[in-house]
Amino acid sequence: KQRVLSGIQPTSASFHLGNYLGALQYWVTLQDDYDALYFIPDMHAITVSQDPKELRKRTRIAAAQLLALGIDPARSTLFVQSQVPEHAELTWVLSCITGFGEASRMTQFKDKSVKQGADNTTVGLFTYPVLMAADILLYRPHQVPVGEDQRQHLELTRNLAQRFNTRFKKTFVVPEPHIVKGTAKIYDLQDPTAKMSKSASSDAGLINLLDDTAVSAKKVRSAVTDTEREIRYDVEKKPGISNLLVILSALTETPIVTLEKDYAGRGYGDLKADVADALIGFATPLRAKVEEYMADQGELDRILAIGAERAREIAGNTLAQVYDRVGFLAR
Ligand code: TYM
Repeated sequence: KQRVLSGIQPTSASFHLGNYLGALQYWVTLQDDYDALYFIPDMHAITVSQDPKELRKRTRIAAAQLLALGIDPARSTLFVQSQVPEHAELTWVLSCITGFGEASRMTQFKDKSVKQGADNTTVGLFTYPVLMAADILLYRPHQVPVGEDQRQHLELTRNLAQRFNTRFKKTFVVPEPHIVKGTAKIYDLQDPTAKMSKSASSDAGLINLLDDTAVSAKKVRSAVTDTEREIRYDVEKKPGISNLLVILSALTETPIVTLEKDYAGRGYGDLKADVADALIGFATPLRAKVEEYMADQGELDRILAIGAERAREIAGNTLAQVYDRVGFLAR
């Protein structure tokens, strides 16, 4: 079996619709055909300031959401990054083959550092993509399913893998990004030309999976559209309607062309009502399941401990090879 690996940060009390449609829904289906490893990068989360108590809680909520969405710990390896020390250790080695200029070109760093301001931008935020490369390369996955915004980080990961392989000896698999078509970028409901994002979107533009469903329905009804009447997919001219069509299409597994036909002659209000219903239908059982997993913290922590142990077996092997190849003494 080929291997897939991906991660999602525990930086909010709920995943958002972009996370689910751009990445998580594929994580669930990929379990059938791949040896899948999924993890919660809490070490990435602290590249911007986090409240310790909140972080611990959000890490558990993240795990509960992944389980509720259908990540099956019997088939996949589910773990928390900081419980596998090899991630930090490989990061150091990879930092030493990463160009300063190369890291400076990462657009997410540039965006986030502007947002944080010079005084609050940390070296950790700068090193973030190198940690992400370590996350991936430790497990030698073939595919890394992510949304569009992670493309540049994966490109860096591929470059570092190739560089290490040539400079030392073939050690890493050069991973393929797995960026889905259609839902790779879900947009902010209030600003349908910007991606939906927990840090950048306004509250009204962001659909959190665990929010009160009445609140989410209201956000959908207030989504920004355009002054025409026609419901048709056209990202350039009708970004708001196109975003709603993408969301409805993904939630109801109905092709967009079919939706366009269904809504011929109908108004934007109808489309919004149906998106809201689809969302409620999806989120209601999800919330109940998340609550169940959160109610038994012991069991949750045990699932994560087993995942970390499995992950360490693979990661430890890779790291030992890396240490040997760069010339460290055996430990
Ligand atoms: P994160 O936690 O920001 O997001 C998790 C996943 O959700 C996708 N995503 C979106 N997809 C479509 N539309 C959107 N509006 C949208 N917003 C987010 C992201 O592309 C991602 O796939 N650096 C990563 C976490 C990470 C990681 C890794 C991923 C750390 N190490 C190793 C893969 C492999 C991040 O911050 O994702």
